[in-house]
Amino acid sequence: MAKERGINAIKEKVLSKKYLVTSGLPYANGKLHIGHVAGAYLPADIFVRFRKLKEDDVIYICGTDEHGAPISIKAEAEGIEPQKLVQHYHNSIKNSFDGIGIQFDNFSGTARPEHVKLSQKFFLNLLERGFIKQKTTEQFFDEKHKRFLPDRYVEGICPYCKAEDARGDQCDSCGKLLNPTDLIKPKSKISGATPVLKETTHWYLELPKFENKLRKWLQTKTDWKENVYNFIMSWLNEGLIERAISRDIDWGVPIPLENAAGKVLYVWFDAPIGYISATMEWAKNIGEPEKWKDYWLDENTRLIHFIGKDNIPFHTIIWPAMLMEQDEDYVLPTDVPANEYLNLEGRKMSTSKNWTVWVDDFLEDFDGEYLRYYLAAIAPETKDSDFSWKDFQNKINNDLANILGNLANRVFSFTKKYYDSKIPKPQKLCNNSKILLEETDELLLEIEKAYENYQVRKAVRLIVDMGRLGNRYFDENRPWKAVKQDKDSAAETLYICSELLRRISIVFSPVLPKKMKMLRQMLNLKTDFTIKDLSNQLGDIQIGEISPLFPKIDDKKVRKQLDKLAVAAQQANPKPQIEHKPQVEFADFEKLEIRVVKVIEAEKIKKSNKLLKLKIDIGGEERTVVSGISKFYKPEDIMGKKVAMVLNVKPRKIMGINSEAMILAAKTDDKMKIVVPEGDIDSGSEIS
Ligand code: 2FM
Ligand code: ZN
Repeated sequence: MAKERGINAIKEKVLSKKYLVTSGLPYANGKLHIGHVAGAYLPADIFVRFRKLKEDDVIYICGTDEHGAPISIKAEAEGIEPQKLVQHYHNSIKNSFDGIGIQFDNFSGTARPEHVKLSQKFFLNLLERGFIKQKTTEQFFDEKHKRFLPDRYVEGICPYCKAEDARGDQCDSCGKLLNPTDLIKPKSKISGATPVLKETTHWYLELPKFENKLRKWLQTKTDWKENVYNFIMSWLNEGLIERAISRDIDWGVPIPLENAAGKVLYVWFDAPIGYISATMEWAKNIGEPEKWKDYWLDENTRLIHFIGKDNIPFHTIIWPAMLMEQDEDYVLPTDVPANEYLNLEGRKMSTSKNWTVWVDDFLEDFDGEYLRYYLAAIAPETKDSDFSWKDFQNKINNDLANILGNLANRVFSFTKKYYDSKIPKPQKLCNNSKILLEETDELLLEIEKAYENYQVRKAVRLIVDMGRLGNRYFDENRPWKAVKQDKDSAAETLYICSELLRRISIVFSPVLPKKMKMLRQMLNLKTDFTIKDLSNQLGDIQIGEISPLFPKIDDKKVRKQLDKLAVAAQQANPKPQIEHKPQVEFADFEKLEIRVVKVIEAEKIKKSNKLLKLKIDIGGEERTVVSGISKFYKPEDIMGKKVAMVLNVKPRKIMGINSEAMILAAKTDDKMKIVVPEGDIDSGSEIS
């Protein structure tokens, strides 16, 4: 195994390439939440840490997306200058990233002068090369505020999925890119009024001119994630159209032309250029201003864009097209491992409805590494996944505390108690120990492969499996017994478990860097290490200061989070007031005869999709009942059940059948549940 690793290492060295990793630039118009983290940042950070562990040449670049309507709308709503808003959220987002250990080599922002300059250069290059044209069209105009409405300033109903809150640029519900004029019942976001169409001039990126080149390039990308590749192909097959890349707002990168007063670049044109300008800033910051070229202008660079799925078309079609026609020979994206969405407690996340978990709030109650672990374990890699607080608690308490933490704790406290914290390296190992080490060798290779293929979920599952193997080995060897008869054999058990923990401390470090550092300190190991250290087995052990690695999460803390969400749900969807009926005399109530009856026959009434015909037994007496429950109950669902019915409402003819009782059921707009006695009771029993 060690030999194989050695060969792999040599192969890797020969093939070793540079990595330039980016995460989608978050808009500087709000705080960071778990949806962001799960989609574009944690997977990238884990990948980068893994690459660094493998001693690859890798830089991780990001920054805030500071232009465009998302920013100006929010600034207007808060009555502050966009610049101020951007500064505030840039800092807030950066602090949240720091709190959960997302470690960029540079975290820049697109309002910085270098970025503005570079974006203008991109525009001019494309214009000079004949890929941008000017066109006059009709655009929505808010008559009350006397201004044109850029796409995000218009909202309405999505023409595709009929979601009611689609924006003029994109529908969040189905992901389709839209034009404001596509929307059904468009409304101005500023005044709420229906906008009118008016002529204006804009610049368009002529995407159809890139179609052949893009197709040829994308055809080489068959190793991309299936969800990403399918999305692109369906986009391409719908046919590329020219896209407006300018807007009528006063916050953004000015179009660098004389006839363009008041026009700025569309935010999606300048945002990805931020990946380059932020790399340039990084190069300057480290005192090697030309070094950005080593990444962006070297064909050996692997450019990896981590994003959420709504950003796929921009990163795989528009952005590569922009890169293809520049003076500089930029690298094109090597891979775009986009993730799907993260839901919260079974519902789509919504920041406006506060149906999310803000990272700064999370950090008030929990360790940031717990979020890293949980989001890695449920990463929405191939389909949407769900964040649930109960599941969060279970995964932390089981996988981390009960399995890995417990292994560390029992091994270290045992070593301390019986061996004065010292275990010498065993001279030779018994068969069981050898087998365990071999099993973990295999797992380690699989874990590496998983990290390489962006399969973080799989990587963490396999690491927890390593912990399970360790606990099983510990239990089978019963060192608590062995220590009394054969101290060397018990010492071997502790040594092997410590070696296992050492291996875990290396391969788990991309996910839990702080916790693994702690673990290594307990094992008295150096805290700078590389993947090569996997083959340097432990020597004599001297345990350091020990403390619990993964304290458990108690119910109270989880309840607090659920209460917060309940408040959000209540505010977003206040329950309609119940309209009560006038009071009645008790004697009037007593006039009703309500009894438990047993359904002994049930069938659908032909020609009706609402009605079931039931035969009921009332302690020996039989009656026929027609009941409007067929939309919610099939005959076999209700057959044989004991239910509550009112027996003395005057019989009514329904579809020609005499109905001689009325079933009791609870109803809402879309649900109906029949009332049944809580336990078994004779049919005919009176309900009062
Ligand atoms: O969707 C978003 O949040 C955008 N701000 C992402 C931009 S990614 C890149 F192109 F900068
Ligand atoms: Zn839609």
